Amino acid sequence: MDKFVIDGGNRLEGVVRISGSKNASLPMMAASLLTDETCVVGNVPPLADIRTMSMILAELGVSVERTNPTTIECRPGDATAVTARYELVSRMRASFCVLGPLVAKRKKARVSLPGGCVIGLRPIDLHIKGLRSLGARVYVEHGYVVAEADRLKGAEIYLGGAFGSSVTGTANVMMAATLAEGRTVVENAACEPEIQDLAEFLNAMGARISGIGTPRLTIEGVEELGGCRYDVIPDRIEAGTFLVAGAMTRGDLRLVDARLDHLHAVVDSLRRIGVHVYREGGEVRVEAPERPSPIDVTTLPYPGFPTDLQAQFMALLSLADGISVVTEKIYPDRFMHVAELNRMAANIRKEGATTIIMGVPELSGAQVMASDLRASAALVLAGLVAKGRTEVRRVYHIDRGYEKVEEKLRAVGAKIQRLPDE
Ligand code: EPZ
Repeated sequence: MDKFVIDGGNRLEGVVRISGSKNASLPMMAASLLTDETCVVGNVPPLADIRTMSMILAELGVSVERTNPTTIECRPGDATAVTARYELVSRMRASFCVLGPLVAKRKKARVSLPGGCVIGLRPIDLHIKGLRSLGARVYVEHGYVVAEADRLKGAEIYLGGAFGSSVTGTANVMMAATLAEGRTVVENAACEPEIQDLAEFLNAMGARISGIGTPRLTIEGVEELGGCRYDVIPDRIEAGTFLVAGAMTRGDLRLVDARLDHLHAVVDSLRRIGVHVYREGGEVRVEAPERPSPIDVTTLPYPGFPTDLQAQFMALLSLADGISVVTEKIYPDRFMHVAELNRMAANIRKEGATTIIMGVPELSGAQVMASDLRASAALVLAGLVAKGRTEVRRVYHIDRGYEKVEEKLRAVGAKIQRLPDE
């Protein structure tokens, strides 16, 4: 296991290239189960989660090969296996995205229930409801969700839950519906850019999906899908994390391959606290001349403020000149970073799904523990500006979602090293 050792205090300045989106790549890889032809996917980041999905697909007869540093080829072979094992699914919940493609194409899917998750309860009822509406018989047996159907049938499906739409739930149902007989209309579909990208990818395979980017998706089922070549969108959460890094270190960063149009809520919040974010040529530039002002932020489904940037924003607001309030409306328990940030002399109090952040003038380096992917990113950001040395342990969490984060940060002036942890 590795740890990051960070000596805080350096202003970040320079150019950062944003990698392809992890959360768009993963369901596309699962979608390769829908065809007998090869899918070539570009701009796929070399991350631990991508390797986990490759292992799952290998067991399902699809070989995934990296043909260059950013391109993968998903080549289908033996199409008889239908099981995604607990050992792999429990490592990464996005594995559950193979459920829809498997039942649509192979008539049966057996996918382990993912189990506990550090960011809180993560039910899968909407995935099951959607597939049942398409006519699949779905039941739980020995810790596995089993779905069976000779041929799925198009249906009208309302896919909203207590916390709004579901990203991977929409992915599962949309993928399954591409091969269903007739028309499917999904109401309250997730509008996240990763879902839009998946829909475009499926259309490149020959699917007929319209309403992309809106809460109503219409999918005209087709008899079969073919292979395709497709480039994944840039990772908006990585881009947002670097925007926050620029803001926290009062730096001047230029992001290459970042999509500002996927980050409206984040950019709006940054501007409101005094951070300059703007397009310059093909790049996105962030400059932060002063200590940030406080602000209230509530996470919401897209186009609202993303839960995947809540922890990083909290690290930033812990240095604001006043009191901020951050409310989590997607995962009410996603606050594992609060106690760790407080170990670094932040002053954050949690009341249910809301946190009150009393801004402090500076953070203090400490030994802290990464608990999940985005919480780890928040601790690294805090370490960049904290006085003295910060050690972030269990960085395998961050490796799941950020490509070479320490190299990217070092290249713009951070003092961060990866060392083996005893
Ligand atoms: C996706 O998870 C992302 N993962 C998450 O990113 C992200 O935090 C989340 O969407 C929200 O944006 C991938 O794309 C691989 P949801 P997903 O279903 O699809 C509730 C990261 O850090 N819900 O959209 O699992 C759920 O409890 C990860 O990269 C139901 O009630 O999230 C939550 O409150 C972590 N029933 C809300 O909906 C269901 O059947 C949204 O969850 C499904 C979800």
